[in-house]
Amino acid sequence: MTRAPRTGAPSGSEGADDATSAPDGGAHADLTRRLRAAGCVFAEDEAHILLAETTDADELERRTVRRVAGEPLETIVGFVAFGGLRLAVEPGVFVPRQRTLFLARRAARAASTVAGARVAEPFSGVAPVAAYVRATVPGARLAASDIDPLPLRCARRNLGADAVVVRGDGLAGFGTDATFDVIAAVVPYVPDGEIRTMPREATAHESGRALAGGIDGLVHVRELIASSGARLAERGVLLLEVHRSQVAAARVCARAHGLGLHARTAPDGQTAVIVVRHALA
Ligand SMILES: C[S@@+](CC[C@H](N)C(=O)[O-])C[C@H]1O[C@@H](n2cnc3c(N)ncnc32)[C@H](O)[C@@H]1O
Repeated sequence: MTRAPRTGAPSGSEGADDATSAPDGGAHADLTRRLRAAGCVFAEDEAHILLAETTDADELERRTVRRVAGEPLETIVGFVAFGGLRLAVEPGVFVPRQRTLFLARRAARAASTVAGARVAEPFSGVAPVAAYVRATVPGARLAASDIDPLPLRCARRNLGADAVVVRGDGLAGFGTDATFDVIAAVVPYVPDGEIRTMPREATAHESGRALAGGIDGLVHVRELIASSGARLAERGVLLLEVHRSQVAAARVCARAHGLGLHARTAPDGQTAVIVVRHALA
């Protein structure tokens, strides 16, 4: 439990316990102590959030017990803050990471260049990228798909009734004829051997299928690149989040399929977005 909460922590809440500045004094200090004892580095912020998001004392106790046991705060309170949005998340789903905003902004930029852009988020989980495009690009037509029905329940809430939300493997759920102006995805891209080095919050509470990407992490990246040629509009783009160390191998794959690829590295220096398109587009 070492990362900052992704629920939009109240500002000015870092530092030592300060019961006088908390809205509910002793309750906040007690909760902070329990969370800190359980190993929550951002215990004070998390205590604020739990108190702010819970009205009933029994429910607060149940939620605290879950958090102390290691469940992500986001699935306990039922949302994650993402690019100014409040996205629904439920226990067991992959909680969107803040680094994915880098991809979401690029997807929105690409969608904004086409009137009524058709935007697909395969491997969608709760569909953070499509939700961000929906919020920022009026008129974009959205589709999301995942192999797991659990996150799709949240995706439907996050995208509203106009979006297409379907269950399916890779791009297959969208039907064989569908083409898109933007396909944007965060596939599972962690190399199998690195899963055990991930924080317990992820390995114990998110499905292995949401994380593991094969020996080099690129199984699904290669699949999507291979199937994207037939699914991209003439000037369409496939945008994929990867680790920057995976860009070179992805480029080899794109070339093998007659596609062009360039990459952008995020400000964190680790995350990259690869941009794949028809070679002549
Ligand atoms: C790393 S998570 C990313 C979810 C979401 N894009 C996000 O950033 O929050 C990967 C997602 O891919 C889904 N998935 C795994 N294998 C899949 C497959 N073969 N076809 C479609 N979805 C798959 C998992 O269920 C999971 O929700």
